[in-house]
Amino acid sequence: MSNVIAVDGPSGAGKSSVSKLVGKRLGYLHVDSGALYRIMTWQALARGVDVSDPAAVAAFADKVEIECRPEDGAVVYYVDGEIPGDRIRTPEINANASAVATVKEVRDRITAMLRAMADLGNLVVEGRDIATAVFPDSPARFYLTASAEARARRRRKEEVDKGVANQSEEAVKASLLARDLVDSTRRHAPLRKADGAIEIDSSDMTLEEVVEAVIGALPEGWAK
Ligand code: DC
Repeated sequence: MSNVIAVDGPSGAGKSSVSKLVGKRLGYLHVDSGALYRIMTWQALARGVDVSDPAAVAAFADKVEIECRPEDGAVVYYVDGEIPGDRIRTPEINANASAVATVKEVRDRITAMLRAMADLGNLVVEGRDIATAVFPDSPARFYLTASAEARARRRRKEEVDKGVANQSEEAVKASLLARDLVDSTRRHAPLRKADGAIEIDSSDMTLEEVVEAVIGALPEGWAK
């Protein structure tokens, strides 16, 4: 059985940067579960599915072919032979991904895909329900959080650096708070800190400090 490090938390808490670095340090594959929800959203919008209609999204859930390949320390997703890249990081996808992620059929499919990845090797998996629903038995479960201001600042910088958007910090904050609300109040696998998960507030911590905190809290023998 592989080791799985589960990292949950709201948008912009630093899950991606932290998980990627932890994976790199330990030689664990990095798994971005949010990207799978984004891919479903992207494909639904591209095919004209009404993403505000859960029945329409449910009917579409098994139509998207996603191939998962371990490459350069991460599980990389291919849709129709292509890596989606920044096409799944636009404000339009940000605004619609939460609605798609409320649909049980979508969650069931992605949960099954994530569990199957444990056959690929040791993993560090980031998301919203990894510690609560996908890998609840993992002994390495973390809840990464930060103030809304810190999260909006980071998310805005990311968008500007990638050239995908240039919104005000206020607009980014409003969009991520709206997403957090949907994510944490939905019926199926809502965002919450798993019982027994280790909570880390990264508002006033450097990336390096958070990485050290995660690695330092792993079970004996996991960080070799
Ligand atoms: O982490 P992210 O911003 O890329 O996530 C995109 C959306 O997917 C967001 O609305 C939360 C949702 N999500 C989820 O419901 N469960 C996960 N394990 C990961 C993401």
